[in-house]
Amino acid sequence: MTIYAFKDKTPKIASTAYVHPQASIIGDVTIGERVFVAPMVSIRGDRGSIIIGDETNIQDGSVIHSDPRFTTRIGRRVNIGHNATIHAESIDDGAAIGMGAVLMLGSRVAKGVLIGNSALLHDKTMTEPFKVYAGIPAKYMRDIRPDDQARKAIDVYVDSYVENAKAYPKYLRVLEEE
Ligand SMILES: CC(C)(COP(=O)(O)OP(=O)(O)OC[C@H]1O[C@@H](n2cnc3c(N)ncnc32)[C@H](O)[C@@H]1OP(=O)(O)O)[C@@H](O)C(=O)NCCC(=O)NCCS
Repeated sequence: MTIYAFKDKTPKIASTAYVHPQASIIGDVTIGERVFVAPMVSIRGDRGSIIIGDETNIQDGSVIHSDPRFTTRIGRRVNIGHNATIHAESIDDGAAIGMGAVLMLGSRVAKGVLIGNSALLHDKTMTEPFKVYAGIPAKYMRDIRPDDQARKAIDVYVDSYVENAKAYPKYLRVLEEE
C-alpha cells in the first residue's frame, strides 16, 4: 500500500484495518479497526485531519480530502460506495453514501442517513438522522422505515466489507505484475 507521511503528519492505521496496495493514504489520516479501503481510493490529509471510524468501508475510486478549517470525521459502520467524492465535514455513524455521490466542502451527513447514488450534497443542505436524500442538488426524499429494504441492503454491505478486511490479507494474491 502507498502510505505517505506529509510534513510532520503520519497516517495512523489500526492493525485490523485493510488498505489495498493501490490505495493512497497521505498525512493526517486516522483509520479505525476493521476498516476496508478498496483499490484506487485516495485519502489525502495534507490540508486537514481525516478520521475514519471502525468498520467503515471506502469503495473503489472514492476520494476523501479535508480542509484546514475542519477535521473530516467519518463515523463507525459507514458505507462509502464506488467513486464517491467526499469533501464533507462529517458523516455520522451508520450513514451510507451512494456510488458517485459528491459531498461538497463542509457538508454534514447525519446518523443513519442514506445519500442516493450520484447525489450532489450541497454544504448548506441540513441532513437529519435516518432519512434519505437524493438528486442534484440532493433533497429530502423520504424517512427510513424500521424494515427499510435499502437500509437492510446497506447493513449487508457493511458486514461483507468487515469480512473483507479480514479476508483480503489472507486470500488476495497477485498473479501477474508488470
Ligand atoms: C436513494 C435510494 C436509497 C432510494 O431507494 P428507494 O427508496 O428504494 O427508491 P426507489 O428505487 O423505490 O425509487 C423511488 C423514486 O426515487 C427515484 N430515485 C431512486 N434513486 C435515486 C437517486 N439516486 N437519485 C435520484 N432519484 C432516485 C426513483 O427514480 C423513483 O422515482 P419515481 O417515484 O419518480 O419513479 C437508492 O436508490 C440509492 O441510491 N441507494 C444508495 C445505495 C448505496 O449506497 N449504494 C452503495 C453501495 S455499494
